[in-house]
Amino acid sequence: MNQPIDPVEFIPFSRPVLGEAEEQAVLEVLRSGWLTTGKVTQAFESEFGAYVNMPFALAVNSATAGLHLALEALGVGPGDLCAVPDYTFTATAEVVRYLGADLVFIDCQPNSPNLDLDRLEEVLSSRKVKVVLPVHLAGEPVDWDRLSALRERFGFKIVEDAAHVFPTAGPRGYYGALGDIGVYSFYANKNMTTGEGGMIVTKSEALARRMKVMRLHGIDRDAFARYTSKAASWEYAVVAPGYKYNMTDIASAIGRVQLTRAQGFWRDRQALVQRYLDRLAGLQDLVLPAWIDDHAWHLFSVLLPSKSDRNTFASELSAAGVGISVHYIPLHRMPYWKERYNLSNADFPMAETRYSRTLSLPLYPALTIDQVDEVCRRFRALLGRP
Ligand SMILES: Cc1ncc(COP(=O)(O)O)c(C=O)c1O
Repeated sequence: MNQPIDPVEFIPFSRPVLGEAEEQAVLEVLRSGWLTTGKVTQAFESEFGAYVNMPFALAVNSATAGLHLALEALGVGPGDLCAVPDYTFTATAEVVRYLGADLVFIDCQPNSPNLDLDRLEEVLSSRKVKVVLPVHLAGEPVDWDRLSALRERFGFKIVEDAAHVFPTAGPRGYYGALGDIGVYSFYANKNMTTGEGGMIVTKSEALARRMKVMRLHGIDRDAFARYTSKAASWEYAVVAPGYKYNMTDIASAIGRVQLTRAQGFWRDRQALVQRYLDRLAGLQDLVLPAWIDDHAWHLFSVLLPSKSDRNTFASELSAAGVGISVHYIPLHRMPYWKERYNLSNADFPMAETRYSRTLSLPLYPALTIDQVDEVCRRFRALLGRP
């Protein structure tokens, strides 16, 4: 049974759910004598790959690192153009600049935070785009049939930013495992976590090989293989100026346990979202996210009534003891992106409207139904509709 809520209890915006199994798994690694990428990471990779039905899975120390490796493996470089949603976290975009390529930003949809595929089609019709990076924002799946049809027509590659979408699948397979390369995030607030971390998946052996080499200094075999195979342990070849993006066995130990809990976490998120939708239904001009069966519900973001001032409302709700956040300040508003690509608010009308009204409420498996009720009570009271 849930405990009754203290009326002044602060309900945090996010909290990872970690238990004794994760603690035990970490302890085993700490006592094993091998801390960095090794057997535990190999096991995590093969379990994760099997989970999403992908032959190649590579653990990395962040999704950002994974996205960087993905674009590098696809040969993105100066003179190339990548299409990225305007309505996302900057990590989706920054990796393009790491490689000296350029970006075109795509506005979101009127009724969804995901990129507008009509707008993408217009861009593809006038400019050569090498890679599209769709983001299943907040866990809402991108319209894959439509995106695939565009890919057939225009011949770009797809790197899926699957930071928000684990562990849901559509008719064609797991989101994140549909593009040429997909990248999941295990950052602390994600649907499963390793503290910091990510996983790259692909069906292409050649891309996997390149990303594996570049993940660890451009070395042709990883440190673990050096010390366990029959070849001399000191012998390796550097074939490129690679990066240092490998995942530790400490993090992988947490990931292996979290993976077994991911389906349960998702069910918990679904139940909490259903409660939110029920408790917040019927409030005039409040836009709730539509229920979608294969939505991963990383975030629960509403659009406040248009007459409310979002910033004032957000401060008042925080003061009333509810942790909130705003997803996202669109990239065209960020000084770097704005200046570099001469972006203006008028070019992104949908993102502007969404941003001015959006507010994310607490959502994580450790949140109780009673806490959701309490968030909704405080939320309604502030709207003057108790
Ligand atoms: C949409 C999106 N893409 C990428 C990332 C980067 O993930 P990471 O922190 O694992 O690098 C995030 C992180 O919050 C994200 O929200």
